[in-house]
Amino acid sequence: MRGCFRPSLTGREGLRSGGQSFGKRPELRHNGKFQLNHRLHSQGAAIKKVARNAPCWCGSGKKYKKCHLSQDDEARRTRAAPTPWKHADIVFKTPAQIEGIYHACQLTKEILDLVGERIGAGVTTAEINRWVHEETLARNAIPAPLNYKGFPKSVCTSINSVICHGIPDGTLLEDGDIINVDVTTIADGYYGDASRMFLIGEVSKAAKQLVATAKDCLEIGILQVRPGATVGDIGYAIQRHAEKLGYTVVREFTGHGIGISFHEAPVILHYGKRGKGMPLLPNMTFTIEPMINAGRRECQILSDGWTAVTRDGSLSAQWEHTLLVTETGVEILTA
Ligand code: MF3
Ligand code: CO
Ligand code: CO
Repeated sequence: MRGCFRPSLTGREGLRSGGQSFGKRPELRHNGKFQLNHRLHSQGAAIKKVARNAPCWCGSGKKYKKCHLSQDDEARRTRAAPTPWKHADIVFKTPAQIEGIYHACQLTKEILDLVGERIGAGVTTAEINRWVHEETLARNAIPAPLNYKGFPKSVCTSINSVICHGIPDGTLLEDGDIINVDVTTIADGYYGDASRMFLIGEVSKAAKQLVATAKDCLEIGILQVRPGATVGDIGYAIQRHAEKLGYTVVREFTGHGIGISFHEAPVILHYGKRGKGMPLLPNMTFTIEPMINAGRRECQILSDGWTAVTRDGSLSAQWEHTLLVTETGVEILTA
């Protein structure tokens, strides 16, 4: 399919020439079809108002003035001027913020790698939660889901017909299951959010195809991202690909700005119309995280208030990355 890679998707080391210590970001080859570079980011929502001597919102235990106050002031200064679009809500990240978000994103990636090494039949989702919790703390970071709007665990684990926000418990993974593990890490107050699907043992062809299509949807969405493209371009590309193959796109959950907080502006719909919606601009950081169903798109929230399942019981799959809009394209920060 797409024969030409935008030059923006290759070699972007120059952007990080500020001398930060995260090293050279490797080039990523996903599959024969797309060549994506690493790193992206997006922007943010309202900056929290905290008294100078109150504890910092990031959970560090330090006073706000000794912790995130100066960063938040900087973020306020660098907010976009009002435009015909709603960019006023967007936190356009500074180079220092991008470095911090990249670091958080790389921890998220490392933790997902570890989950991938350990996961398999016979493991409980509570064990996955313990791995994520402990590996996050071991990296001097905080698992963002824990106590987020009352979420009780440190990671979301969503099996088979669970669309997202599955709560880890004693459930044993079984041969043939598909599971999404969604990790969000807070490091030095910056957020990195990514999720992957894992196949447990021998999985049906239908399940494998769904998982592969959801991944393709994410990658196709990412390929839309560059300055001047719109949020609608992302959603359109994802929806078109999913529906062409007979799958459906969940509407109730979206990608989101991220970086300074967990969920910032803008909302990134995984469906939509080409050319519609907010134009993307450099230094926005956001996620794309399409949830693709094998059956109908409708969802239902279980009585725990979190677990979102397909209404018809069909399988659902999701992949997520945190992205940065660069001057010329995109970087996948969680790759
Ligand atoms: N990580 C999810 C996302 O991609 C959000 C999970 S919220 C939680 O946006 F509270 F369930 F953790
Ligand atoms: Co997300
Ligand atoms: Co997530």
